Amino acid sequence: MLSALALAAVVLASPAASCVATEGGFDWGFKESFRAYLSGSIANGEWSTEGGIGYETPVFTSESLAGSVALAPLDGELAVGGAMRFTGHEGILDTTVSNLRVALDGQRLQLIVDVRGTTQEFVEVDTADVLFATGDLTAAEWTAGEDGLLIAGIPLTLTAEGAEAFGTYPEGEALDPLDLRLATTPACADEAIAARAAGGGMLVPLLIVGLVVLAVAASVLVHLRLRAAKRRGGGAEPEVPQPQ
Ligand code: HEM
Repeated sequence: MLSALALAAVVLASPAASCVATEGGFDWGFKESFRAYLSGSIANGEWSTEGGIGYETPVFTSESLAGSVALAPLDGELAVGGAMRFTGHEGILDTTVSNLRVALDGQRLQLIVDVRGTTQEFVEVDTADVLFATGDLTAAEWTAGEDGLLIAGIPLTLTAEGAEAFGTYPEGEALDPLDLRLATTPACADEAIAARAAGGGMLVPLLIVGLVVLAVAASVLVHLRLRAAKRRGGGAEPEVPQPQ
């Protein structure tokens, strides 16, 4: 009974194993008010990019995300080696956000980066692997196309760790929304959208838990019936059907 249930769980989970994105890209404005502040007359600043990250007004952009993300439901991480450097106030403000990693887990996105620079309070920062922002994938628009899956307008919120490393905005501050592209086939993009509609990452785990509960209940029932039969038969073993 248990092996049949395990097989059913594997069959239910198998579409996730077949659809995987290993490449992708993004467009992200970082924070529009920060760019306006930097390019204005107060900071007289600018920004530059390096590696796999570029800038096309008004967004930082990359086509170089690489890694592995299962699509139905979303689960995995893509990363790009590259940097966004913000400077202003004749070099007093000099912050580099680099090594972007986008981790996806069902309905949640985590943006992990390295941050180096000076906060608004002139505290030196040099921190790797900062969980900078989190994003709500359910609030974004998912579209399947020839190039794969586009998840557009993912709202991003600064985390406590991100607030500490960047040193100006408080935790919970809204950053610009992020558009994420995952390279895959149109069929796999459709599957990702269907998995999202069916409850994202929770569907398969809930089905597996349900099957395990059913298996335990069934074995308890069999055990109780065997005991009852034993009592009725005065201790004799229950009759076992013999092959013809
Ligand atoms: C000479 C030193 C600095 C001066 C005089 C200065 C001045 C200012 C002023 C006047 C504003 C308000 C701008 C507005 O409301 O339009 C501001 C905002 C801000 N400053 Fe500075 N600042 C300095 C250094 C820094 C440093 C080192 C950072 C480091 C990251 C920083 C980050 C920011 C940020 C993030 C904002 C908010 C921008 C926004 O989203 O509106 N500043 N600063």
